[in-house]
Amino acid sequence: MSEPHFQGDVGPDATAVYTLGSSAGESARLVRQSDELLADSAALVDRVALSSGSSVIDLGCGPRGCLELLAGRVSPAGRVVGLDADPAHTAMASEFIAQRGLSGVEIMTGDARHTGLPSGSFDLVHARTLLVNVPDPEEVVTEMARLAKPGGWVAGLEPDSEYAMCYPPHPAFDRMVEIFLAAFSRNGADPRIGRRVPELFRQVGLRDVSVEARVQMYPLGNSRRTVRLDLVRSMRGRVVDLGLATEAELDDLDASARAHLDDPQVVAVFGLLFLARGRKPMDEEMSADGDSRSAVADRNQ
Ligand SMILES: C[S@@+](CC[C@H](N)C(=O)[O-])C[C@H]1O[C@@H](n2cnc3c(N)ncnc32)[C@H](O)[C@@H]1O
Repeated sequence: MSEPHFQGDVGPDATAVYTLGSSAGESARLVRQSDELLADSAALVDRVALSSGSSVIDLGCGPRGCLELLAGRVSPAGRVVGLDADPAHTAMASEFIAQRGLSGVEIMTGDARHTGLPSGSFDLVHARTLLVNVPDPEEVVTEMARLAKPGGWVAGLEPDSEYAMCYPPHPAFDRMVEIFLAAFSRNGADPRIGRRVPELFRQVGLRDVSVEARVQMYPLGNSRRTVRLDLVRSMRGRVVDLGLATEAELDDLDASARAHLDDPQVVAVFGLLFLARGRKPMDEEMSADGDSRSAVADRNQ
């Protein structure tokens, strides 16, 4: 297995500002997420013309993320770079690609806000559930646009967690949703980022921005049915530190909400997923527009 190599100026701050923190439980949740969000990610990636030989970077790739999906789209001659700030995740990602025998995939430990990679390197710059976790998503989106080749694509799949509900309603579920939103936002991250992604893409000058929203609704047996509760588990230390609930209260709420969701007749919605993509203009498009054009003007497209 090749060791992930260091890139850019990753420091304690990159992982320190990551909302869900670093723990074995969170890493295991992300391994599951790789399969759970596969169909949604495939739908997004299919909107971008990739072929053998294309180059792609997945920022905040996590322990698996979309690496296999992306490798499949650009193989055999293409290149996939997976970059993450957490060395535990890049080690897991390296092990994963070795186990699967994926060729043309490189893993780097680095900061998605300042990768240190050359501008205009990739046909697709992709991130999934990264922008939702960082306090300044604009910085990451600016870096995404910088890394894309002129004519290349930037794509993101991000949640919007406002619209969570279950029916019949249950007080423990509702309380866990409240705790989730409060704990998540305290780090400066925006749990409602999904709806903002097209705007963020336009603000950095991307064109042909398109967006689709999907409802996160999972039946009994789908491991994502408890996603809100699992995320609160990942943030448990912060929830307690913030005084939002005690350990004992969290245990009770968690058990009670899980028991409710164990009823197959309970209908539960966990939020929306936004799939967005935008194209980096070619140099000639920029000069045809007299492009000293400001990001604000671009927003009016
Ligand atoms: C919610 S996980 C998503 C992982 C993967 N994209 C997926 O969808 O399964 C977010 C990932 O972003 C990484 N991350 C957070 N802040 C980062 C930063 N500034 N630069 C690079 N990676 C970062 C975390 O370590 C984590 O692996």
